[in-house]
Amino acid sequence: MKLFDVYPLYNITPTSGKGAYIYDENELKYLDLYGGHAVISVGHSHPTYVQKLQDQLSKISFYSNAVQNPLQVALADKLKEFSPCKEHQLFLCNSGAEANENALKLASFHNGKKTVLAFKNGFHGRTSAAVAATDNPKITAPLNQQQEVVFCEFGNLTAVEEAFNQHAICAVIFETIQGVGGLEEATSDFYQRLASLCKEHNSILIADEVQSGFGRTGDFFAFEKHQITPDIITIAKGMGNGFPVGGVLISPEIKASYGLLGTTFGGNHLACTASLAVLEIMASENLLTQVQKMSDYLIAQVQTIPEVKHIKGRGLMLGLEFDFPISKLRKQLIEHQQVFTGSSKNPHLLRILPPYCIGHEEIDLFIQKLKSELKNL
Ligand SMILES: Cc1ncc(COP(=O)(O)O)c(C=O)c1O
Repeated sequence: MKLFDVYPLYNITPTSGKGAYIYDENELKYLDLYGGHAVISVGHSHPTYVQKLQDQLSKISFYSNAVQNPLQVALADKLKEFSPCKEHQLFLCNSGAEANENALKLASFHNGKKTVLAFKNGFHGRTSAAVAATDNPKITAPLNQQQEVVFCEFGNLTAVEEAFNQHAICAVIFETIQGVGGLEEATSDFYQRLASLCKEHNSILIADEVQSGFGRTGDFFAFEKHQITPDIITIAKGMGNGFPVGGVLISPEIKASYGLLGTTFGGNHLACTASLAVLEIMASENLLTQVQKMSDYLIAQVQTIPEVKHIKGRGLMLGLEFDFPISKLRKQLIEHQQVFTGSSKNPHLLRILPPYCIGHEEIDLFIQKLKSELKNL
């Protein structure tokens, strides 16, 4: 059987990883400043993570959501230690799109409305309602177009207020920092006004923290900086350090009932173990502080490179903006310098999404390799 050919692939076959590095089948070493698209949080093959998953695998890896699973309760308790929204409830699923799909459904169950307000250049995943709320017609099938979604300019309060006046808004879904869209972040005023408009209009505020959450910005959630309390927060990516797991954090005002949401695999024993291991490592290695320190160091080093015109984003969710398209530079960084970086909708932006364990040595190496490749363009 042939693979369904939807991914343009680099001709690289990673076979192992350690910390901020991955290795191919010839033991060629690559510096990972992409984290497999913001997924690797505590680092490749972290010994605690590996040990905990191995131990759990030898006990039980899965049973259905029809029985007690104390690991789900342990994960909810642990998340409470990190999250500022202490009373939110946890629903576990398998991916970022599924988390957003459930968040949008919950909003609609809760207030009975169906029009979603989303933002231009946003990305929320590829399932039905999530993809409809994603500003990319290329990945939206005719089937998805039955969803009612209003798109506003990110950061434009006048447009948002107008949308609230014209439509019965069920939910507002936003990324605090747009990942795929190019690392844009609005002002605190903007997020705070979104929150107050949602309150005034009985709408649900959904923070998509799938990419920016779980410590990537140096705060546990990127929205914390703006002092808001979203009704629903979605998480995935860094949550499992590569093990597929997603979650929805739900305000106590939204009530659960049997059968309202459900999933076969969500919250399975291995997924919970992976995520518990991530949180344990984040606490014991003080990774939130580490993310901030390494971010400051990386930004200071990048500021010495004149070709970099702007630095966008926060923590270890950064974008380096050049005044030329970066596709060639990115390809050369991989092929000549063995450095993985990311791209975005902004063709001039090189995305930097390393594991949180990255150190001075790796950053110095990156700067040296970036400088040398800039000369070869
Ligand atoms: C902000 C955001 N939301 C949702 C998703 C979708 O997550 P997944 O690919 O796990 O479905 C992504 C993936 O890149 C994302 O960046």
